[in-house]
Amino acid sequence: MDTSGSAGHPDLLLERRGPVTVLTVNRPDRLNALSRDTLQQIGRAVDAFTADPAQRALVVTGAGEKSFVAGADIAELAEVAARGAAATEEFARAGQSVMDRIERSAKPVIAAVNGFALGGGCELALACHLRIASTHAQLGLPEVGLGTIPGYGGTQRLSRLVGLGRATELVVTGRRVPADEALAIGLVGSVVPQAALLDAAVTLALAILRNGPLAVAAALEVMREGVGRPLGAGLELERRRFGALADSADMQEGLRAFLGKRPAEFQGR
Ligand code: COA
Repeated sequence: MDTSGSAGHPDLLLERRGPVTVLTVNRPDRLNALSRDTLQQIGRAVDAFTADPAQRALVVTGAGEKSFVAGADIAELAEVAARGAAATEEFARAGQSVMDRIERSAKPVIAAVNGFALGGGCELALACHLRIASTHAQLGLPEVGLGTIPGYGGTQRLSRLVGLGRATELVVTGRRVPADEALAIGLVGSVVPQAALLDAAVTLALAILRNGPLAVAAALEVMREGVGRPLGAGLELERRRFGALADSADMQEGLRAFLGKRPAEFQGR
């Protein structure tokens, strides 16, 4: 998967940094806006990442210094909207499907937000498990200014992340949130200088990869699935996964390693 703008992914750059894959959306003349084709390329790249055991974490970023992803491609959206409700709903369904596949990855996915993350770009960052921003990043869901609403998951994922009140304010004003405010409200987990952003994201990925991979996958699943459920149902899910991990060699290894005062050597089984 060491391809750069290959035939299969002309709008993406894919780079391997050891076990970490860096996916860069590369449409600089459109500020990395997502055409439907770009979106499908991301979907295929995510599927390849998910299926490849040698790829253990994914970092998603945008080409250049200005923009992560400036949204869905508005020229395409205009064409689709002209075809009416059914075509426009299908447009959202296709985008939501890609975002869902990212969120459902059993391996960690980190957004390195290197500039504008607007509309579909913000939604792409929201679908990732973790977000790091550069100091000049700006995030927002400006769709109401276009006479529409976020359609790639933004209305649902933003409120789960920052709370309904803040999310409502951001969605109905469409205003852009600078990196320091994004950090303060929990929209991103950390803010670093632009030059340090990619290394910070890869370092975070590697820190996660030092832990038991089955445990990380279980944590991602339980937290994702539990958040929309009543507390009791979420606790049941947690209990079941907690129990199931006892049958893994990794849990036995992790506990023995601690008690033996040595680093754990996880095998992913
Ligand atoms: N879709 C299609 N093209 C886009 C785009 C998008 N979402 N975002 C930017 N572009 C294009 C611009 O049309 C422009 O093309 P041009 O050079 O042919 O005129 C080019 O990218 C550069 O953008 P520009 O607007 O000139 O840069 P800027 O620095 O003045 O402003 C933004 C940057 C991000 C504030 C502005 O481009 C913007 O508001 N983009 C749309 C964001 C949005 O509403 N996203 C939600 C979409 S659902």
